[in-house]
Amino acid sequence: MKHDLLGLKELSADQIGHILDTAASMKEIVKSPNKKTPHLQGKTVVTLFYENSTRTRLSFELAAKYMSANAANISSSGSSVAKGETLIDTAETINAMGTDILVMRHGMSGAPHLLSPLVSAAVVNAGDGMNEHPTQALLDMLTIREHKGRIEGLKVAIVGDVYHSRVVRSNIYGLTKMGAEVSVGGPATLLPMGIEKLGVKAFDNVQEAIVDADVVMGLRIQLERQKKGLFPSTREYFRFFGIDEQRLKLAKPDAIVMHPGPVNRGVELSTSVIDGERSVITDQVTSGVAVRMAVMYLLSRGGF
Ligand code: NCD
Repeated sequence: MKHDLLGLKELSADQIGHILDTAASMKEIVKSPNKKTPHLQGKTVVTLFYENSTRTRLSFELAAKYMSANAANISSSGSSVAKGETLIDTAETINAMGTDILVMRHGMSGAPHLLSPLVSAAVVNAGDGMNEHPTQALLDMLTIREHKGRIEGLKVAIVGDVYHSRVVRSNIYGLTKMGAEVSVGGPATLLPMGIEKLGVKAFDNVQEAIVDADVVMGLRIQLERQKKGLFPSTREYFRFFGIDEQRLKLAKPDAIVMHPGPVNRGVELSTSVIDGERSVITDQVTSGVAVRMAVMYLLSRGGF
């Protein structure tokens, strides 16, 4: 039976812990001068991206290459997708070329779930619409665990465009399973109804969400997914919901600041916070390569 990574909703705390442990040793390889291991020798990894990406796509590709896989990338512009080929036909074509791991990002929630039974390759969800982005949440959890020594019992505040964010959904599933206390905050127009049912506290302001937080995570305002009018302007957003030095004082004195990227500077976080000593945003990027190495390696060996 083949194994996929479609979301964190389906994984147990033990499985998440196993991926994080594996990723912690992969991170040593990422930081070492000799980034070549035989973990995926002879395997083929294809990344299929229907949405823009810098770090997710590149980190999957580098993760595959560091482990000696054959890695190729295809994106919707410049491929037959632009000629009108359907998602399923494109995926079956990629599968027929001997692909072992198909990493995909698509604007439609559930796209990787649709493809999984149709291809023999292991499918890894690199972001499906507003649903999940499991490897992002795994890299966030690895980064938190490294900086705080644990996840259980921590207070994690996630603030910004909660409504459109697949990052927040995967983090909620993952962090609550690992025993963290999660609160979300943002403008009322960007908070999905019933989000509390996922086991989090929700606030229509930033202050209450970040009080005493150990981790403050900003989310990008996803202008490309919004119909206009959910908040007046990015300047006003920053004034009421942005994280600056002053607002950060509400969190614990040793709180770390995270953001999945790409950051809108001066909108979700002030430049001094992004570049400040509490920011672990660059380390998140390094964790991203390590987590993707761990996920692909474990999938090639029969899953988590
Ligand atoms: C996120 C995404 O695409 O879901 N970015 C990422 O993967 N690093 C978040 C975002 O685009 O805001």
